[in-house]
Amino acid sequence: VSSRPTIGIFDSGFGGLTVMRSLLALVPDANYVYLGDTARLPYGSKSRETIARYAVDSLRFLESQGAELFVVACNTASALALDALEAEAKIPVIGVIEPGASAARAARNEAMQEAAATDLTSDGVLVLATEATVQSHAYARACAAHGLRAFEKACPLLVPLVEEGWIDHPVTEEVARIYLAEALVQAGAQNIIPHTILLGCTHYPLLQDLFECVLLKHFADHDPMSILDSAEATAQRVKQLVAERFSSTSTTSTTEPTQKFFATDSVEKFQRLGSRFLGCPIAYVQHVDLGG
Ligand code: DGL
Repeated sequence: VSSRPTIGIFDSGFGGLTVMRSLLALVPDANYVYLGDTARLPYGSKSRETIARYAVDSLRFLESQGAELFVVACNTASALALDALEAEAKIPVIGVIEPGASAARAARNEAMQEAAATDLTSDGVLVLATEATVQSHAYARACAAHGLRAFEKACPLLVPLVEEGWIDHPVTEEVARIYLAEALVQAGAQNIIPHTILLGCTHYPLLQDLFECVLLKHFADHDPMSILDSAEATAQRVKQLVAERFSSTSTTSTTEPTQKFFATDSVEKFQRLGSRFLGCPIAYVQHVDLGG
């Protein structure tokens, strides 16, 4: 038995490459097959039925490519289609929502220790995500299971801004400021005082620096808030699963691990924009047609 698993990663587009980036750092000795369903993106504005159908198509494709684990990098698909995927899958399925919520819990525990449990009583999390993810309340449920109260805010303008490459643009900064200001007022009205901002969308990790800067400039009066993303937490979860399932019966492989990329729309665009999300060049992308 080889020690090297084949990990399938699925997203509505190239945003999920932020999850792959975290995975490559934590689980470098694995073969990766990535599918970006770019022809049917965005998922964030679609219905549960449509998203589930698309996600199951992608699962079948990645299983046919030899995937032994299915990582749902897309927050929207994790929020709306995890049940459907688990029912259909022959391999373990890992979504990003539960790892994200569990990372928020860990961040709160850490902050409480630092504050010596004196002045930090907040159990609030601000989740920024797509419209469909927010409507599903999947993050609120996952956070509640960890004893946290989430306020979920849809930020529909951020995905197109990131895709435009405007990750440190004044327009994006202003949009982020407005979303945060609205969210904090709306959360406050429900007595939710966030200690953590959870970036619940594949595209938002690219805005981490911009959010830090907006918090410093415009929200210095607010209690300190840490910014987390689900990508890193999901990679940790995959690492754990790989260690449990693949390492004990292994022999060391002498070949280099492989990476394959598939997109359902333009491979040229995937290559160009995807490199930004992955943090390194993507040599080759293959086109695949999964139907309408
Ligand atoms: N991948 C989606 C997510 O993480 C964002 C892009 C889309 O709406 O398809 O929610």
